[in-house]
Amino acid sequence: MGDEYAISGEYLHLLSEPAWDGLRAPVTEALHGAVGDGTLLDVGAGTGLGTEVLAAATPEADVVAVEPSPVLRAVLLSRMTARPDLRQRVTVVAADALGAVLPARLGAVLAMNMIGHLDPDGRRTFLRRVAERLAPGAPLVLNLQPPAEPKPVPFSVFGAVPVGRHTYEGGGSAEPSGPDTVTWRMRYRVLDADGTPLREDHAAYRWHVTPARGLIAELTEAGLTAEVGPLDVVRAVRRP
Ligand SMILES: C[S@@+](CC[C@H](N)C(=O)[O-])C[C@H]1O[C@@H](n2cnc3c(N)ncnc32)[C@H](O)[C@@H]1O
Repeated sequence: MGDEYAISGEYLHLLSEPAWDGLRAPVTEALHGAVGDGTLLDVGAGTGLGTEVLAAATPEADVVAVEPSPVLRAVLLSRMTARPDLRQRVTVVAADALGAVLPARLGAVLAMNMIGHLDPDGRRTFLRRVAERLAPGAPLVLNLQPPAEPKPVPFSVFGAVPVGRHTYEGGGSAEPSGPDTVTWRMRYRVLDADGTPLREDHAAYRWHVTPARGLIAELTEAGLTAEVGPLDVVRAVRRP
């Protein structure tokens, strides 16, 4: 398995923290109804920013964090083991959304900022796999990310985070690369205290775009009832 995050892995956690400051409340709200006697599953867990929110939703349940990228998994593992409460509860699994062996009964599923990594067939398979294991009333929480259609996104800087005398900066642009895909071209820089770039890294990845109505239709097809909430967080539960 190649590591799409081999370059960006160094930067991802730092640059995702501000976004999660905003996502924490709507994701927590969307996770209401999580079921304590099922496993909590985070798919594409990254460095565990969502895993922590998921674990807090139902403090008595076991958590499985699935993460295919070795570099992100290393950060995830070290962050989870640094917290004694999570070290007891979170199992980190090296797999992807389609290859992971899923627990039989899921108390809640989180798949934040990752659905665009799956092509349409993979996305439908993933949604079906999860839907058939979700306990009644238990939520699947994921999100929509722009662009909703394959169109160019001009370059912008997404964030800049100071650490010591350096500032870590991330930005990117996207261009259409297929009928339902864009290619994101990311630029990461480490700047010195006076703003001089010390290092610059580049990464590119393909992203399958999903308009809200298309995703809702696929969730419905999988047997779930879905709604889009604040910050485009999507909550879906199994229909009785
Ligand atoms: C933008 S990061 C989001 C990480 C984390 N969920 C968050 O919101 O902070 C996308 C994540 O999806 C993971 N990923 C990529 N392809 C995947 C796949 N086929 N199955 C599961 N996860 C995948 C990446 O390794 C990465 O951790």
